[in-house]
Amino acid sequence: MNHERSFTLSENGQLICELPILFGTTGPDVIDIQTLYQRTGMFTYDPGFTSTASCGSTITYIDGEAGILLYRGYPIEQLAEKCTFLEVCYLLLNGELPNSEQMQEFEYNITMHTMVHDQLTNFFNGFRRDAHPMAIMVAVVGALSAFYHDALDIKSKTHRDISAVRLIAKVPTIVAMCHKYSTGLPFMYPQNKLSYVENFMRMMLATPCDEYHPNPVLVRALDRILILHADHEQNASTSTVRLAGSSGANPYACITSGIACLWGAAHGGANEAVLNMLEEIGDISRIPLYINKAKDKNDDFRLMGFGHRVYKHYDPRAKLMRATCYEVLTELGLHDDKLFKLALELERIALEDNYFIEKKLYPNVDFYSGIVLHALGIPSNMFTAMFAMGRTVGWIAHWDEMISDPDQKIGRPRQLYTGATCRDVPARHGKTI
Ligand code: CMC
Repeated sequence: MNHERSFTLSENGQLICELPILFGTTGPDVIDIQTLYQRTGMFTYDPGFTSTASCGSTITYIDGEAGILLYRGYPIEQLAEKCTFLEVCYLLLNGELPNSEQMQEFEYNITMHTMVHDQLTNFFNGFRRDAHPMAIMVAVVGALSAFYHDALDIKSKTHRDISAVRLIAKVPTIVAMCHKYSTGLPFMYPQNKLSYVENFMRMMLATPCDEYHPNPVLVRALDRILILHADHEQNASTSTVRLAGSSGANPYACITSGIACLWGAAHGGANEAVLNMLEEIGDISRIPLYINKAKDKNDDFRLMGFGHRVYKHYDPRAKLMRATCYEVLTELGLHDDKLFKLALELERIALEDNYFIEKKLYPNVDFYSGIVLHALGIPSNMFTAMFAMGRTVGWIAHWDEMISDPDQKIGRPRQLYTGATCRDVPARHGKTI
């Protein structure tokens, strides 16, 4: 980050202070307000951080107006076409794509850590079978810190790398276990001969009764879904991970805080909500009713899978997800899938509607992901856990970047206090307590 311009702050024509303007490699410049309070006695007010850059980062860049998403400079479209999810993981963690030797070593390390400590399986029995898988996932991922305290020194890069590998390797195993537990089926242990995604599909969808042969088209589709979810700069869950990590909390606790945040319907919970919404709409003839509900200020209903804080253009991930949807449905002979047809028509009608045009509301990544996951045989209550599985690497990359940053401080926002000013507690019955 560099600066050569400054921003002047004045009140009633009087100069209050001059603040440096920082610029990155691309994207909007930022006003450096770090000394503002010290120099003016004032804070800035920005609920929802709509105008605040909370940190500098080299990981992911989004141009929301142009619909561009880059991981470490590479366009998401190229990564989705030419790379595997594990290559993208390596890229996000290390800044460069791996050569074949680096990839072999990375893949080997991940494969060798896919099993979880057997004692961890006891955790599941404490949950009701009808618990939401995300509720179980939050608890079980958090519990990992109780098992892997051999490498919890966050100041050690070696320890941080070990935690990164453990998390990327074990989260799919835990996601699959959450599903198996809630359906009453036996846990499936990982198999080292399988690729990352094949292994996950087997743990998730197979039973010990039958041989499982993953379909390569579906494996590739799921791999691509994970790539599309791998990172998205300072979104709510990533910012949560950074804030949790800023206190020095251990990586498992930090990733758990990200999972908990992701669960919300405005964030990762939207993919499950989209499928529920499409099922509720049920028929193309009912779309106008739901479009009107979404536009009605007196109705809480929002078109799930539409709109984004940063994208004011078509989310590039949604485009790729729609293409993946076609591929998967064709492979499975489901090209007439009712929900997909409904989604395409809903998108068409919304994109022609003035309300959505004026507010620049386009389909986001979650709009089509639920339909693909549903076709892959993944139940809707697992959709957000799938998102968490893809995003784990992004959370870790940001956590690691934050800890390595020499300017890193504990995150501690201030506030505009609007409560009662100092007052005395009244005496009760004429007595003090
Ligand atoms: N349906 C109807 N109206 C909407 C929608 C929607 N999906 N999204 C935004 N609006 C309206 C909103 O009512 C507001 O109108 P007004 O200016 O008249 O008050 C305006 O558009 C701006 O909305 P906002 O809530 O102030 O925008 P935001 O940037 O704070 O929220 C969002 C972004 C994603 C939370 C929101 O668009 C939303 O709730 N979408 C539905 C949930 C969803 O699909 N979430 C997944 C996001 S992408 C994956 C991820 O990152 O997790």
